[in-house]
Amino acid sequence: MSDTPSGTALATLRPACDPATALDARFRAAIRAVTGTEAGDPQIRVSGNAKFGDFQVNAAMSLAKDRGANPRALAEEILKAADLAGIASRCEVAGPGFINVTLEPAFLAAQLDALSRSATFGIPPATDPHAVVIDLCGVNVAKQMHVGHLRATIIGDSLARVFERLGRKVWRENHLGDWGLPIAMTLAKLIREHADFAKLTLDDLNAAYRGAQRETSTADLDAASEFRCGPHRLAELEIQYEPARAAMDNAKKTLVRLQSGDPEVVRLWERLIEVTMEQVYEAARTLNVKVGPENNRGESFFRDRLGGVVDAFAKSGLAKSDKGAMVVPFADRERPLLIQKSDGGFLYATTDLAAVRFRTFELDGSLVVYVVDARQRDHFKDVFDAARLIGWNTTADGAESALVHLGFGAVLGADKKPLKTRSGENFTLKDLLDEACERGTAEVTRRAADPNAPTHGLSPDGLARIGAAVGIAAVKYADLSGDVTKDYVFDLDRMVAFEGDTGPYLQYAHARIASILAKSGESAAAIASAPLVLADPAEKALALHLTRYAQMVLDVGRTLETNRVGAYLAQLATLFNGFYQACPVLKADDAAARLSRLRLCAVTRAVLADGLSLYGIVAPERM
Ligand code: ARG
Repeated sequence: MSDTPSGTALATLRPACDPATALDARFRAAIRAVTGTEAGDPQIRVSGNAKFGDFQVNAAMSLAKDRGANPRALAEEILKAADLAGIASRCEVAGPGFINVTLEPAFLAAQLDALSRSATFGIPPATDPHAVVIDLCGVNVAKQMHVGHLRATIIGDSLARVFERLGRKVWRENHLGDWGLPIAMTLAKLIREHADFAKLTLDDLNAAYRGAQRETSTADLDAASEFRCGPHRLAELEIQYEPARAAMDNAKKTLVRLQSGDPEVVRLWERLIEVTMEQVYEAARTLNVKVGPENNRGESFFRDRLGGVVDAFAKSGLAKSDKGAMVVPFADRERPLLIQKSDGGFLYATTDLAAVRFRTFELDGSLVVYVVDARQRDHFKDVFDAARLIGWNTTADGAESALVHLGFGAVLGADKKPLKTRSGENFTLKDLLDEACERGTAEVTRRAADPNAPTHGLSPDGLARIGAAVGIAAVKYADLSGDVTKDYVFDLDRMVAFEGDTGPYLQYAHARIASILAKSGESAAAIASAPLVLADPAEKALALHLTRYAQMVLDVGRTLETNRVGAYLAQLATLFNGFYQACPVLKADDAAARLSRLRLCAVTRAVLADGLSLYGIVAPERM
C-alpha cells in the first residue's frame, strides 16, 4: 500500500536511537556543503551484506544524474565533506557510487543503551495531534461472527496498537450492523413465535434470521412476474405467497415501531444486540483484542443523521433526484452512489457517509482506516469520493483526513476454497478459535513430556493456558504477518508449529531468552545498567537490528503493512540465534562480557515482547 497523507507526516519523523538518524543528519550536511543546495534525502539504507558495511548511502547516484556529474567522484566528495567522527569506523565509495558505512561499535552501543532506557523504544512523540480512527470488527446483529469478521477484528486491533505505540489517540470503532429491515424481520419473527428473549442464544437468533429471510422471500413470484408467466400462473403464485407478504408487512410494522422508539420493541432489540455481542466480547477476550461495549457505534447510532446527510448533499447540489431516489453522480464513472431509495429508505452507504463525518469532525480523525473485506472496495471508493466532494474529509480544525479502506482477502481452506468445517458448513469464529486452542494445547502438552522441557510437570490447566496462548498466537501471526490484502490459507498444522515463520516460534524464542536471564542469577537492575560491549560481528548485527525497531513501527504506521512487524521479529529471532551460537552468554570468558551479553538478551526480550504486543500476542515466560 502506498503512503497515506498522514503517513507523509510519519515519513519525516526520525527515531532518536537509530544510527540512521545520525547518519542522515551528517550526510545531509555533507551534501549541502558539496552541492550548495538543500539537496534532500541522502537515502540511507541498511546494507544487504554486513561484510561491506552496516549502512549504504545511495544519494550520490541520483544527485550525479541530475547534475550530469560522475557519481563515484561525487560520492567521494560527499564522503570527504561528511563529519563522521565518533559514528563510523570505516567508510568507502563502492560500485556505481554508493557509500558504505561501517559503524563504530561504541556508537552503536550508545544508541542501543539509549533505546533500552527509552519508554517508547526510541519512537519519537507524535507530531499529528489528531486522532486515528480504526473501523474494525463490524459484526452483524443476529448473525454468527464468521472468519471475515475475525480478520477485521485482528487486523484492526493490531493497527490500533501500532498507532497507540506511536503515541496517537486511537478510536476503535465497531460499526456493527444493528439497524434496518433484516433485524426487524428477525425481531418480528421472534415476537410472533413468543420466543423467550431472556433465554435466547446466538444460534436461536441465527435460525430466526434465516427463517425470517426464507418466510418473507417472494423470489419465485418476482421471477415469475418478470418473465410474464401468464395471469393464471401468477394468480396461483400470489395465493401461495400470501403468507410471505403478511410476514413482510409484519416485519415492516415492527421496523416502524423500532424506528419510532416503541419501548417494548426497543427493549427486545437491545436484547438481540446483547446476545450477539456476548460472543464477540468472548472472542475478543480469547483473541486478546481490545473490543468491548465501549467500542460499539453501530449503524443505529447514525439513524437520526441520515436525513441530514441527504439534505446536505442535496443542498450543495451534489445529489440529484433520479426516479424519486437520491443519487450522487461522479464525474469519472457511470456508477452513481445511491443515498436514498425512492421509498424514502436510507442505505448502508448513507450510514457510512454519516459515519465519515462523525469520525473526521467529531472524533477528530486525520486518519480513518476501514478494516473491511476487500469485496467492499467499490462501496468505500464511492463513499470516500462522495465525502471528499462535500468536504467531510477534514478534521474540525480543517486538517486533511485520509480515508483509507484496508480491504483484506478471504480466509481459505487447504483446498484453496473458502474455509469450511469437515461437515461442509461455514466455519464460525468460535469453532475456529476452539480448534486453534486445542491444537496449541496438544503441541504444548507433547513438548512438556520431555523431562528437560521448562513446562515439564505443569498441571493440565497450566498447559492449557499456555496452549491457548500458543493457538491464538498461531492464528493471529499467520493472519498479520502476510500481506493482509491477499487471501490466506488457514492451515493450523503449519501455523501452530514451533518451527518456521510462526507466532509460536517467536513466543518460544522469547521464553528461551527469559529462561537464560532467569538462569543467570543476575538482578534485572544489574543487567540493565551493564556497559554494552559489541565486539563480535554477531553482537553488532543483533544490536543494529534492535536499534531499527522504532523505524519499523513508524513504517507500519505509514504504510499500514502489519507484515513488517512479523518480518522484523522473525529476523530478530534469527539474529539472536546467530548471536547465541557465536557468543557464549552464561559461560562467557569474563564478567563484563557476560553482563553485556545478558543485557543484549534483555533488550532483545523486551523488543520481542513489545513487537508481539503490537499483534496482541502474549509472550509467556515459560514454554
Ligand atoms: N457489517 C458490515 C459487514 O458485515 C461491516 C461493516 C464495516 N464498516 C463500515 N463502516 N461499513 O459487511
